[in-house]
Amino acid sequence: MSTTLALDVYGTLIDPFAIKTSLIDHVGDKADVFAETWRTKQLEYSFRRGLMGVYRDFSHVTRAALDYACEMHGARIADDDKNELMNHYRALDAFPDVATALSALQQRGVALHAFSNGVADDITALLNHAGLGDRISSIVSADEVHTFKPDPRFYAHFLERTQSTADLTWLVSSNPFDVIGAQACGWRTVWVKRNPKVVFDPWGHVPTAIISGLMELPALFTSDKGAA
Ligand code: LAC
Repeated sequence: MSTTLALDVYGTLIDPFAIKTSLIDHVGDKADVFAETWRTKQLEYSFRRGLMGVYRDFSHVTRAALDYACEMHGARIADDDKNELMNHYRALDAFPDVATALSALQQRGVALHAFSNGVADDITALLNHAGLGDRISSIVSADEVHTFKPDPRFYAHFLERTQSTADLTWLVSSNPFDVIGAQACGWRTVWVKRNPKVVFDPWGHVPTAIISGLMELPALFTSDKGAA
């Protein structure tokens, strides 16, 4: 069996803050803080829905977080414009280091799977928009288990779907809560610390590797037998 990588999508492959280019039209110089609120609430709503056991898909969660951000920042955005923002959310740009890194990993025989809270249609749209569709073997979505990261059932589902084992599976994510979720399930982890200011939650978990961008990822996997 070979090494399997579970690639987080939002924040790791795709930049959720690329939405700011559309937000500027609606909220001007509040685009940064608005985008932060939107992303923070999106994640909070996913955690809360997971805990409460009241699943709605990630696109619903994202739209509810957008409504919250509008209220919070006093932004009056018409429904049609909110729909446009949601459309942009399906066509966000990838980080510039992703395509080259994934090609290098593919050449080394590492199995690459997208592993995301997002619904499969949205993730397919994002990957195709970014020209990454042919670099990913499959998309494993939280929508298949009706819960969200870091629910251990989703990590277990990933292993089942990809016929992999925890000891050979690596999560690659910029999100500390995701890294800790995977480590708690016995996976190895790469924390992509894209933003040097982000603090890793002090829960006693140490990522197996820490990199500042995906260009450092291929060097960790010199063959399909695992990390270098
Ligand atoms: C994802 C979110 C957590 O793609 O970033 O799963």
